[in-house]
Amino acid sequence: MERYIVNGLRRLSGEMRVHGAKNAALPILAASLLCDGCELHNCPHLSDVDAACNILNHLGCGTCWQNNVLLVGKGESRDCTIPTSLMREMRSSIVFLGAMIAKYHEAKLTFPGGCELGPRPIDLHLSSLRKMGVEFEEEEGTLNCRVRDELRGAQIDLPFPSVGATENIILAASLAKGQTVIRNAAREPEIGDLVGFLQSCGAKISIENDGTILIDGVEKLHETVYHVIPDRIVTITYLCCAAITGGDILVTDACPDHIRSVFPIFEEMGCRLTVGKNKIRLINHGSIHAAKNVTTMPYPGFPTDALAPIMALSCVADGTTVFTETIFQNRYKQAWELCRMGADIKTEGRIAVVRGVKNLHPAHVACTDLRGGAALVIAALGTEGTTTIDEIRHITRGYEEFHTNLNRVGADICCQ
Ligand code: UD1
Repeated sequence: MERYIVNGLRRLSGEMRVHGAKNAALPILAASLLCDGCELHNCPHLSDVDAACNILNHLGCGTCWQNNVLLVGKGESRDCTIPTSLMREMRSSIVFLGAMIAKYHEAKLTFPGGCELGPRPIDLHLSSLRKMGVEFEEEEGTLNCRVRDELRGAQIDLPFPSVGATENIILAASLAKGQTVIRNAAREPEIGDLVGFLQSCGAKISIENDGTILIDGVEKLHETVYHVIPDRIVTITYLCCAAITGGDILVTDACPDHIRSVFPIFEEMGCRLTVGKNKIRLINHGSIHAAKNVTTMPYPGFPTDALAPIMALSCVADGTTVFTETIFQNRYKQAWELCRMGADIKTEGRIAVVRGVKNLHPAHVACTDLRGGAALVIAALGTEGTTTIDEIRHITRGYEEFHTNLNRVGADICCQ
């Protein structure tokens, strides 16, 4: 079990490059099952990406890294089963469902199950695919899926703009017969990137101004070379790391447009932002002011994945912040660990009230999930003394060379 040992209160200064977005790369890797192979640039090298590659390898599409470029081969296998062991390696493996349905017209996989953010049902994925002619049967935790007559386009109105359900519908619809219309589709930038990838393979997809997605199924998709978008949550995390240390960093290879909803919060906290086309500089010379309210919403609202990093900052702000989480049921597990470091946080259902304290103190804490883990590192960077953070495997799911990148701009973190 690896851990981080963080010696805090080192001011961060310098340049940090953002890697490609995990949440864009994963559905794109599922989509690569549908084309004649692809060359993916800016794909982050993370354990979740390795897990997606293991699934692709199992399904007969060989994957390999060549100088930071991920190559995916054309799949020839007819095996449409994902074994439980591979499904368990990554919770978002459910995104392979739409791709397998499109390619094989059948799929056999285990339910992804609950996760650390609360129950993660897939009812919207299933009801949408059912409209497209897919039948489901559940047998001892295994989901058997089969296209009844033909995979056909459908009119789908999502009651909630689920990211995963939107991705699965797009994947299945790309090779279905006729047109699929997704109303109230998720609008996250990662959805746009999946659409961009599929378009580059010859898919006929358009996104209307109101966010409705139209997909005209095609018979076949060809090979492609594609560049994954920058990771917006990693960008926000790096900015938080700089802010808590009173630092000055320039985050490069980013997409500032994707994180506009977070700018007012940083500004309310007293940080100065200078935004360029694909870079953001954050300077924080003083203490951190409390942002009054932070409410998560589907894109373009404040991202749920940025809640924990911002919460770490609010722990040492001069005032009270009220967080309202509207997407997941259980997004506050890191709060208890932050309290072990002296934070004052009360949670009740979807609300968390954080009263800023002057200083946190070092403690022995453990990551509870990916973004909660990043929040502990942020808190430790702003704490005098040595903090030990266990269970960092959660962090390596979503941050490439996290501690090495932070050490390059002045942090003191070692991995043991
Ligand atoms: C994706 C992201 C995750 C991010 C989330 C919201 C990936 C790999 N993960 O997760 O980092 O936090 O979007 O931006 O891209 N729901 C249902 N039924 C369904 C589907 C979802 O009730 O069939 C509920 C979920 O339980 C959750 C909410 O809808 O409470 C949001 O889920 P969804 O948008 O689907 O997120 P994910 O795709 O799981």
